[in-house]
Amino acid sequence: MLIKKPVAIKASEITPKAIYLKRRRFIQGGMGAALATVLQNNLMAAANSYSTTEELTSIKDITRYNNFYEFGTSKGAPGIHAGALTTHPWSITVSGACEHPGNYDLDDLIKAAEVEERIYRLRCVEAWSMVIPWQGVPLGKILKRFGPTSKARYVAFRTLVRPAEMPGQRRNILDWPYREGLRMDEAMHPLTLLATGLYGKDLPNQNGAPIRLVVPWKYGFKSIKSIVSIEFTENEPPTTWNQKGADEYGFYANVNPAVDHPRWSQKKERRIGDIFKRPTLPFNGYAEEVASLYAGMDLRKHY
Ligand code: MTE
Repeated sequence: MLIKKPVAIKASEITPKAIYLKRRRFIQGGMGAALATVLQNNLMAAANSYSTTEELTSIKDITRYNNFYEFGTSKGAPGIHAGALTTHPWSITVSGACEHPGNYDLDDLIKAAEVEERIYRLRCVEAWSMVIPWQGVPLGKILKRFGPTSKARYVAFRTLVRPAEMPGQRRNILDWPYREGLRMDEAMHPLTLLATGLYGKDLPNQNGAPIRLVVPWKYGFKSIKSIVSIEFTENEPPTTWNQKGADEYGFYANVNPAVDHPRWSQKKERRIGDIFKRPTLPFNGYAEEVASLYAGMDLRKHY
């Protein structure tokens, strides 16, 4: 992952939450206005429990400063090239240690689910961060429907492979498809989100449309985009960045200011739009919620 200095943004470019909340629409189509209001109120309530109240990163920065190597390695490439990706129809193959494997249409999977609003910090391993208002469904709620068996100790994810629409895949930048994985308890944790939108709209392609993972206490590379495959496994699954450089990118990848990346420090981060750096918080500020998942583990070894 390459480093580029972030560009400062004006405060006027940051959309206040009240404005984007008004713009919010639901991924369930054809919903009555009254029902929409009731659900919107529920969403507001849901937003409070896990969301940060920090200032949001502007939609411009969220959609123009991206990591999505399937579209190129520069931060601007996804915003330029991802528009050409066809994201509908979309299906997800579910396999491995579960009672209901199969090929699921995304619309059917999400239709029955209650979409929640979550404002999360996203901390990239490259030491920059953003605050993003996501819409999505807790991953655990979706995984439960597939009936994971007792052999399911991990969940592995894969991104779409479609070089015709993903120019980065025509080159050997990474070993495609992009792969990620979580331990089952991490996947079932209520903070872990399958995001379908941000800033009240469907997910922009460069942010991982139509569905991506968001694991806010881990470095951004765990949050795999444009998912087409979910597999329940007994053993720890191989993951893209760990395979690329195991000494730099671990399987756990929990945000940890005490463990430096071999080529740079993780003690501080630059919030995109800020001039000065700020200290990085253990587990990206979500320690109270998730530190217990790693009780007894040496987080220097399991980085
Ligand atoms: N998912 C895929 N398929 N390909 C990628 O290159 N980059 C990761 C992650 N998910 C990546 C991916 C990295 S390094 C980060 S920091 C986040 O996506 C960035 O998400 P954003 O562009 O929405 O901010």
